[in-house]
Amino acid sequence: MNIVETMDLSKFYKFDSGLRVEALNGIDVDIEEEEFVSFMGPSGSGKSTLLNIIGCLDRPTAGRVFIEGGEVDYGNSSGLVRLHRQTIGFVFQAFNLIPTMNALENVCYPMYFNRVGRSLQKQRGNELLDLVGLGHRAHHLPSELSGGEQQRVAIARALANSPRLILADEPTGNLDSGTGKKITALMRKINREQGVSFVVTTHDPEMAMAADRVVKLKDGKLTE
Ligand SMILES: Nc1ncnc2c1ncn2[C@@H]1O[C@H](COP(=O)(O)OP(=O)(O)OP(=O)(O)O)[C@@H](O)[C@H]1O
Ligand SMILES: [Mg+2]
Repeated sequence: MNIVETMDLSKFYKFDSGLRVEALNGIDVDIEEEEFVSFMGPSGSGKSTLLNIIGCLDRPTAGRVFIEGGEVDYGNSSGLVRLHRQTIGFVFQAFNLIPTMNALENVCYPMYFNRVGRSLQKQRGNELLDLVGLGHRAHHLPSELSGGEQQRVAIARALANSPRLILADEPTGNLDSGTGKKITALMRKINREQGVSFVVTTHDPEMAMAADRVVKLKDGKLTE
């Protein structure tokens, strides 16, 4: 089964000046269960727009999106909340950890919204930090961690509610190439061992090489 399917997906912006930007134009893309796919293309080609629409952080102008076979209704906010709580995890270029919370609290935070009990939160949070190799830094604040360590915490957080799909917008974009390589390897390992599907946008050739498949965009369209 496909975890994601898009049909003739478009996103247009219209400005008062009459200018029209076609951020996405007629995208049909399928992502299989357990696949690791990277979106590549020049700056402005629509990678983030496509990822954000798949992740229900943005809505399309036209076209349809299916997650786990169910069509996304972008007007149904409780349906979108359910997808965010149960099915989709996010990793961002700038890590986006909560600065006043330590690593463990950051990882546990999404579980709070699913009403997971405190002790179970803590247990799972610690397991996830162990998984990303940061069990010993559970009580450190993000400011006390390196960029690569912060991104590992963010990956653990993305896994908190056992999503079937993780979406990551340039997850190695703020890291040096050596650290980026480690993050790429970690994501690939989680993909293989846990069967979580990954869709990443990237300019990083190492990340693209690690993917099962590269989807190329240019001017809001798929190429080749
Ligand atoms: N809110 C917006 N209003 C108008 N145009 C927008 C808006 N958001 C994105 N765009 C335009 O849509 C196009 C695609 O942008 P997008 O951010 O998806 O590109 P990208 O491939 O992620 O680029 P990068 O590699 O620089 O991150 C660009 O031309 C951009 O200027
Ligand atoms: Mg982008």
